[in-house]
Amino acid sequence: MGSFSLLSAAARRLEGKVALITGGASGIGEGTAKLFSKHGAKVVIADIQDELGHSLCKNLSHQSTSFVHCDVTKETDVENAVNLAISKFGKLDIMFNNAGVTGVAKTNILEITKLEFEQVVGVNLVGVFLGTKHAARVMIPARKGSIISTASICSVLGGSATHGYTSSKHGVVGLMRNTAVDLGRFGIRVNCVSPYAVATPLAKDFLKLDDDGVHSVYSNLKGHVQKAEDVAEAALYLGSDESKYVSGHNLLVDGGFSIVNPSFFMYA
Ligand SMILES: NC(=O)c1ccc[n+]([C@@H]2O[C@H](COP(=O)([O-])OP(=O)(O)OC[C@H]3O[C@@H](n4cnc5c(N)ncnc54)[C@H](O)[C@@H]3O)[C@@H](O)[C@H]2O)c1
Repeated sequence: MGSFSLLSAAARRLEGKVALITGGASGIGEGTAKLFSKHGAKVVIADIQDELGHSLCKNLSHQSTSFVHCDVTKETDVENAVNLAISKFGKLDIMFNNAGVTGVAKTNILEITKLEFEQVVGVNLVGVFLGTKHAARVMIPARKGSIISTASICSVLGGSATHGYTSSKHGVVGLMRNTAVDLGRFGIRVNCVSPYAVATPLAKDFLKLDDDGVHSVYSNLKGHVQKAEDVAEAALYLGSDESKYVSGHNLLVDGGFSIVNPSFFMYA
C-alpha cells in the first residue's frame, strides 16, 4: 500500500467497484483516482502521460490500481483500456470520461484553423463518445454501471473559453443526455460533472491562474478556492450507489458562478 490509506469498511462508498478514469494522471482525474481508491475502488488510470500515470499507481496500490497508455481519440486505445479493466479486475462499474484539452488559446474565429477546432473536439467530445461506447459495451451485459463525463461551466455558458472548447463541452452534455436515454434501458446511469476553475496544468496555462486559483474571485461563493478534490467528491457521488436514481444530470460544481449575470449583480 502506498501513502493513501483506506477509510474504515463502513465509510468506503466504492467498495468492490471498478473504475476507469481517462486523463487520470493529472489534475481532476488524479484527484479522483486518489479519492476513488480511498473509498475502496479498483482504479484503472488511462492517460497519455505514462510517467505520471505510473508514479500515481505507485503512490496508490499496485494491487488495486493500474495504468494504461490511452489516447482517447483512438478507438483501439479506449477499447483496450476498457478490456484491461475487465481482464485485471473482472468488470467495469464506473467510467469517468475526464481527459480534456483547451486547445490553442485563440478567441477570434477568423484565426482558428479547422484542424485546431477539430483537435479540441477530438479529445473532449469524440473521446467521451468512445469512452461511453466502450463502457456501454461491457456495462450492458451487466445491466448496471455509472458513466460520468467531465464537462465544464462552458457547457452552459458562452464566452468563457475558445469556440472549440465551449462547443465540445456543450456537446458532452448533449451526448450525456442522449446516452442516458439509450443506456437507461439497461440500468446504466450517465451524468456529467462541470467544474468552474481548478488550478490544474490545463487551467493554469489557459486561464493564467496561479496555484491558489485566483480566478475564484469571480465565483460568488466566498471562503473557498475550488480544488480537484471538490470535483472528485461530485464524481464519487455520481459513481456511488448514493446516486442510484440520478441520471441525465449535469452537476455543476462551480460555487454558483453560472447562476448570476454579473451585469445585474446587486450583492457586491
Ligand atoms: N481545471 C479546470 O478549471 C477545469 C474546468 C472545467 C472543466 N475542466 C475539465 O476537467 C478535465 C480534466 O482537466 P484538468 O483540469 O484536470 O487538466 P489536466 O491537464 O491536469 O488533466 C487533463 C489530463 O488529460 C490528459 N489528456 C489530454 N489529452 C488526452 C488524450 N488525447 N487521451 C488521454 N488523456 C489525455 C492529460 O495528459 C492530463 O493528464 C478536462 O476535461 C477539462 O476540460 C477543467
